[in-house]
Amino acid sequence: MFHPLRVSAVEQLTDDAVAITFAIPAELRETFRHTPGQHVALRRVVGGVEIRRTYSICTPAAGAADDPVVRVGVRLVEGGEFSTYALKELGAGDTVEVMEPMGRFAFEPRPGRFAAIVGGSGITPVLSIAATLLAREPEARFCLIRSDRTAASTMFLDEVADLKDRWPDRFQLVTALSREEQQSGLPSGRLDRKRLTGLLPALLPVEDVDGWFLCGPFGLVQGAEGALRELGVARSRIHQEIFHVDGGTSATGTPTTATPADAASAAAAAPAHSTLTATLDGRSGNWPVREGDSLLETVLRSRSDAPYACKGGVCGTCRAFLVSGEVRMDRNYALEPDETEAGYVLACQSHPLTPEVELDFDR
Ligand code: FES
Repeated sequence: MFHPLRVSAVEQLTDDAVAITFAIPAELRETFRHTPGQHVALRRVVGGVEIRRTYSICTPAAGAADDPVVRVGVRLVEGGEFSTYALKELGAGDTVEVMEPMGRFAFEPRPGRFAAIVGGSGITPVLSIAATLLAREPEARFCLIRSDRTAASTMFLDEVADLKDRWPDRFQLVTALSREEQQSGLPSGRLDRKRLTGLLPALLPVEDVDGWFLCGPFGLVQGAEGALRELGVARSRIHQEIFHVDGGTSATGTPTTATPADAASAAAAAPAHSTLTATLDGRSGNWPVREGDSLLETVLRSRSDAPYACKGGVCGTCRAFLVSGEVRMDRNYALEPDETEAGYVLACQSHPLTPEVELDFDR
């Protein structure tokens, strides 16, 4: 559900990125308490057309006695309607519709050794994860390996430097710039799978890391996962979030390996007519699925309250339980294997493979 929140600050982070902080009224404090790594969806309606985008929260999670602070990082995406508005028009005092925090790239701090490999704006949720972990777990360690184009394009430089100052023994920072040489840190160049496979064992004891957080563009996350798997890291220790999938939106989630559908066989397997039954907020309805429409689009025709943000298979907001029938998903960057095995699907990516399909958005 969206809530109108007043913007309390818009701060320039780089030439093409800002941080937006929202004022949380007392009655919404519990609603906007987040787990480190989560995101919020923002909504704007222009000329009757609704735009939704998800942005990760960069602030540490609030303790039980503290007020939550919701601050998100927004980088300008070429042609991106929301990011252009956020960078060029939005100011303190404006109101934005904000959905409560969600997303499964979420991490409850626990003792141990953790590491992250991030690219570009992928630092945003990881900043919240690292800051919360280091503050709450006195023995925990965190290694951040970040990749950016240049120092000037690097988001949250001050916030990351602050972590280094506060916990010099428990926070390790490694920076790689792809287009610029730096005095300290790694030589310039992209962090791809081959480079990471050679580099990671020299930076930290890979086998002792309890959890890895990979966040950024698809290529970086995929390369980092490949390197970790090659180094013997179990899939269950790797948490991923992809930004900017093609066609894309800036979004978050906890993606798994992409599973693009075979269009020809999918079309052959699709029934001529299908009916969708869906339950949402305790109310059910059923509707015919128009050819080519996703199950989310089918529900949205009658229920504008159906949950979604990216419509691109990355944020996981449209997750629903498949009660009966079969579907195919065009792609899935948001659900973990155990979620799909348990019967969850992304409604925005699902198309019926049986004449009757039933979804439950409430489970
Ligand atoms: S709306 Fe984002 S995954 Fe479906």
